[in-house]
Amino acid sequence: MQLLDPVNRFVAADRGGLIGGEWVPGSGGTIDVENPATGTILTSVANMTATDVDAAVDAARRALPVWRGLPPTERAQLMWRLGDLIAERADELAQLDALDNGKTVGDALAVDLPLTIEIFRYYAGWVTKIEGRQLPISIPDFHAYTRREPMGVVGAIVPWNFPLLMCAYKLGPALAAGNTVVLKPAEQTPLSALRLGELIIEAGFPPGVVNIITGDGPTTGAPLAAHTGVDKVSFTGDYQTGRKILDASQGNLKRVTLELGGKSPNIVFPDAQLEAAVDGAFGSVFFNQGQCCIAGSRLFAHEAIADELVERLVAKAEGIVLGSGLDDRTDMGPLVSAVQLDRVLGHVERARQDGATVLTGGERGEGTLAAGHFVRPTVVTDVDSSMPIMNDEVFGPVVAVSRFTDEADVVERANDIRFGLAAGIWTTDVRRTHRVAAALQAGTVWVNTYGMFDVAAPYGGYKMSGYGRELGEESLDAYLQSKTVWVNLA
Ligand code: NAI
Ligand code: MG
Repeated sequence: MQLLDPVNRFVAADRGGLIGGEWVPGSGGTIDVENPATGTILTSVANMTATDVDAAVDAARRALPVWRGLPPTERAQLMWRLGDLIAERADELAQLDALDNGKTVGDALAVDLPLTIEIFRYYAGWVTKIEGRQLPISIPDFHAYTRREPMGVVGAIVPWNFPLLMCAYKLGPALAAGNTVVLKPAEQTPLSALRLGELIIEAGFPPGVVNIITGDGPTTGAPLAAHTGVDKVSFTGDYQTGRKILDASQGNLKRVTLELGGKSPNIVFPDAQLEAAVDGAFGSVFFNQGQCCIAGSRLFAHEAIADELVERLVAKAEGIVLGSGLDDRTDMGPLVSAVQLDRVLGHVERARQDGATVLTGGERGEGTLAAGHFVRPTVVTDVDSSMPIMNDEVFGPVVAVSRFTDEADVVERANDIRFGLAAGIWTTDVRRTHRVAAALQAGTVWVNTYGMFDVAAPYGGYKMSGYGRELGEESLDAYLQSKTVWVNLA
């Protein structure tokens, strides 16, 4: 696939970060941005420092009265226009995500872009529907009501697995609620976020409503998370980083939303439609190279169907074509970085040492793939609940398969984990469906499907998978605070 001209021009240009409506170079050094399919350097971006973070937070704070002062219909129109601009440039944005993340353009156009566009349109609709309530107080001669007001300045720190989409997850509800934002994309994947900055200017947002600062976690993310001029931080990423964000929030007790990792169970009962379950199990853990917080990385197969399920899963995995995300023939791209490649292969190696069996995969791509960060889809079996492969988030194309015979037992094993982001159930028994869906400790349960997302459906974690929900009305609530007003009528 040829890169589009605007994409080539964009990657070649120097731009820095977006602060107060201006592109500024930043006061630190730069970070190389790599193409993970080839290991070559695409470009570099600013590694912005605490000084730049101060400037971005200042700009966001100055923009607050401007943004809140616009009539809701005008804010809604700006957000809708941004959705339209993203739709017009979908091919470009998909190529940018494929370039620095490694995902296929096809996946980006099928999943990342449509949901990104819907998020801006859905939350544009909410801008004119944020209402307070008149309170039925019992004290005579008083009138009391609530107003729902923005938090203020939001720091949005996003990961590299869905680079553009994760920006939208934060920006949509934060802007609809009337907040201004300082957005930090992941250092591995800043390109689509910076292009989004250009579209935000083109849409006509007032300067400073959205500021975009690039850089790594310690240099740029940490001062943003700790900044006392930031009222709320919304973070998606590693649960260990989530802990640091919480610590950093204490200076001004800022509000925090955390979308962290998972180790989601995907349970196939003997009465499942096996073909669908195989496809579902495959997609649940190999989509996006397994770099999904919701990855169904613990597959529980009932004894009666386990052999056939595993055999079909392995056959499907072995049929996968690895390659550049920009090549139409590619089923699966590379992992995002050499660091992630080492992490994932390290998890597989540790599982081998612990006595697990690697049925397929578990090694790097060879030949023309050797320069990139490719891992073949990997199926591991002979695992038990004490092994790290059954407890740690791998964040790569690796599924650990265990067997079960009893429903109550598998539910207990599925729940025996510190995470609780999502779960899958495959069954044709309607009683079992609702019984097990109720018993699983997870923020989302998918039945006879996996990984469904819609802007109207909130999602988020139980247990150590995080605080709060994203998407839907619940996400909007997380960017609003309620004020009660009392008026003496006497
Ligand atoms: P990370 O959590 O360190 O990075 C995510 C974002 O946080 C990036 O923008 C990064 O620059 C920023 N960040 C890092 N340290 C920070 C700090 N101290 N203060 C503020 N911001 C900070 O994730 P990383 O290191 O890229 O990946 C490690 C593991 O985390 C993965 O192997 C995976 O298991 C998990 N992860 C989970 C994600 C999810 O969607 N839940 C997304 C990315 C990673
Ligand atoms: Mg990290």
